[in-house]
Amino acid sequence: MELAGRKAMAGSVRLQWRGQRSRVLLFVALCLGHSGLSAHGQSPAFESHRDPSESGVGAPKLDARVESILKSMTLDEKIGQLVQYSAGQPTGPGTGRSDYKEMIARGQIGALLNVIETPLINEYQRIAVEKSRLHIPLLFGLDVLHGFRTEFPIPLGMASTWDPDLVEKAARVAASEASAIGIRWTFSPMVDIARDARWGRIAEGAGEDPFLGSEMAAAYVRGYQGAHLDAPDTMAACVKHYVGYGAAEAGRDYNSTEISEHTLREFYLPPFHAAVDAGAATVMSAFNSLNGVPASANPFTLTEILRKQWGFKGMVVSDWSSIGELVAHGIAIDDAAAARKALLAGVDMDMASSLYHDQLAQLAHSGAVPLTKIDESVRRVLRVKLALGLFDHPYVDESRAQSAFFLPDSLRLAQSIAEHSFVLLKNAPVAGTPLLPLPKNVKTVAVIGSLADNPSDPEGTSSAPKAGVLSFQAELVRRLGESNVLRAKGGGILKTSDDEIAAAVDVAKRSDVVILTLGESPAMSGEAASRAHLGLPGRQEELLEAVVNTGKPVVLVLFSGRPLTLPWAFEHVPAVLAAWFPGTEAGPALARTLFGESNPSGKLVVSWPRSVGQEPLYYNALSTGRPPKKIDLTHPPIDVESKYVSRYIDEQNSPQFPFGYGLSYTAFSFGPTQIDKAQLRAKDLNAELGARTEPLNVLTVTAAVSNTGSLAGEELVQLYVRLLGTSTAQPVRALKGFQRVTLAAGETKQVTFQLTPDAFAIWNNRNQFAVEPANVTVWISPDSASGSDAQMKILP
Ligand code: BGC
Repeated sequence: MELAGRKAMAGSVRLQWRGQRSRVLLFVALCLGHSGLSAHGQSPAFESHRDPSESGVGAPKLDARVESILKSMTLDEKIGQLVQYSAGQPTGPGTGRSDYKEMIARGQIGALLNVIETPLINEYQRIAVEKSRLHIPLLFGLDVLHGFRTEFPIPLGMASTWDPDLVEKAARVAASEASAIGIRWTFSPMVDIARDARWGRIAEGAGEDPFLGSEMAAAYVRGYQGAHLDAPDTMAACVKHYVGYGAAEAGRDYNSTEISEHTLREFYLPPFHAAVDAGAATVMSAFNSLNGVPASANPFTLTEILRKQWGFKGMVVSDWSSIGELVAHGIAIDDAAAARKALLAGVDMDMASSLYHDQLAQLAHSGAVPLTKIDESVRRVLRVKLALGLFDHPYVDESRAQSAFFLPDSLRLAQSIAEHSFVLLKNAPVAGTPLLPLPKNVKTVAVIGSLADNPSDPEGTSSAPKAGVLSFQAELVRRLGESNVLRAKGGGILKTSDDEIAAAVDVAKRSDVVILTLGESPAMSGEAASRAHLGLPGRQEELLEAVVNTGKPVVLVLFSGRPLTLPWAFEHVPAVLAAWFPGTEAGPALARTLFGESNPSGKLVVSWPRSVGQEPLYYNALSTGRPPKKIDLTHPPIDVESKYVSRYIDEQNSPQFPFGYGLSYTAFSFGPTQIDKAQLRAKDLNAELGARTEPLNVLTVTAAVSNTGSLAGEELVQLYVRLLGTSTAQPVRALKGFQRVTLAAGETKQVTFQLTPDAFAIWNNRNQFAVEPANVTVWISPDSASGSDAQMKILP
């Protein structure tokens, strides 16, 4: 039941993005029309999507070759396939060997990461293919997270586009660039659900929602792996970090997680499942312990769920040294026990800890690890290499890189995605008119903040090599002329002197409008970058207040890998744009947005906190037995009724900005949500969940959406559901659909969603996905906190 139910769900996810794809078509065509970059369907890369079961790691046609190679392998050669080292930067535990070439020649290494020089990649490969006894090619991996040379916004920004089609295209570009230097395996996408902005790696994922996260996960996989995984311009995706890593307690990276099976199934697992269904070739096991069992030695998640329930045929690689870390976790008394536990749980390849290399042979000889288990893992590694076509085409043509990077189409795509990733948080009137977009004839603009002029900063958190970018400041100078752009650094991210603040204030006073670029440096988010304070680092808040107090109109452009708590700014600064880290095209994308050539349409994929004390904060929470009656809470509470509810005595429950929120330069209004049926039957829906065909549309939901402003714009229309009366408590709202709608000024469109049975399926109290009788509320809305609702029932 469970497995069948999940299959149906994946089917509807596919339907959903297909629907969205056609709606997005026109817009992409308009945006990119002259560029030669395709509207959907025109570029060969997007013409057809493979059936992952036919050309991916699971393809039955690989079986015979796998078995014939396996038969000829010695135990040492088998173990070699399960070993991965980092032979480049960064170094860390498990690096620092100098004998990789000898090891490769002896068949003792299956994969390398962080080698980024093509001649060296080919040299290592030549040793594997020509000198090692069995000629098995190496697999070269790298963290290509949001582009390779052409950098796209960080994944949190990519997700803020709510546009899987754009994300797929970005992943395709990343794959064609990285594969051009010989990288055929990316440790991406990171699909960890992240509910806590303290966790630095929130920057690397798609935020807090499993539905959106699943769409994004599948889009990355399709893009990286292309229509045929064995084409030379693909990379095998590695879905990470399996699983629960994003729930690190207190937002502290690598910390333990406690996640009930119910929460795991409904929130944390779906994006992994969607990626696996999209054909992801590999999965990475996480660092964290999950309910007391480290994720890199967890048979329940790695074998029971991933392999038995989902049918995953690819390979699982450990995260960096996470097998070695089983000793520190305390579940392995020594290295041998760590290697044994990881392999038996289902981790096929050891990244960087060297424990499989050091321990597996002895474990196999003693019988502590059955040979059949080693064989299983070797098969999976071979499948990935075969599916990538590495046996037939092991080398990379060194001239390919010359024509692969920064192609005009790729740069245009990067710019378009950056523009779509910006979330306009506030745009209040100054002298009667919203401050943004800035008038084209604005005279003197002050640009303040170190993030505006450091071209490498707004690029993001990827460890792939950086390209030169045109800074935002340089772009403004190009547009407005040198003398019309007044500049002040305003200090650094962490260190600022009084003089630097005074100079910034002086520049602000001499301008007509100030653009303040503040936030975090890229190194402040990503791995090992958890923060206990979520305000502006250093003296930036002081700088902000000093500049705003000049009385000049201020546009605050925030660069960050997470939402930042800025209550003063949201009260006193008229216009605030969350820009995340926009990538290579940061400068032009920002300038076009601020001057109105691009109208923002990004929406938040994480709830934006008012205060760090609210974390973890997420919209799709369960109700409590004591939900506050009022949305706006007074503090301190004034009476018994307003006190003994689930709340803080000194802060609102609500976020500063809800999940799904984002403004436009135009305005939209939503008509009432309408549904075409008053009731459905659980037994009919459950029969559909079990069906192997494309799931039926069982409910049509519509609302009229109007552009009531004076500019054309795009609205990301969202559909949410709530179920009451079910055996397990369900979220106060859960996203079940979204569409981008383009509307001319004054235009109205009827927006229609077709819901399939999985929209109503829950992980119930019998540990199954099923539809249960319920009272259902459905909203079509611009974000997770507003919109009109419609009611219906699911009868038994
Ligand atoms: C990170 C992974 C990454 C790996 C390889 C680890 O520290 O957690 O996300 O893919 O390093 O660079």
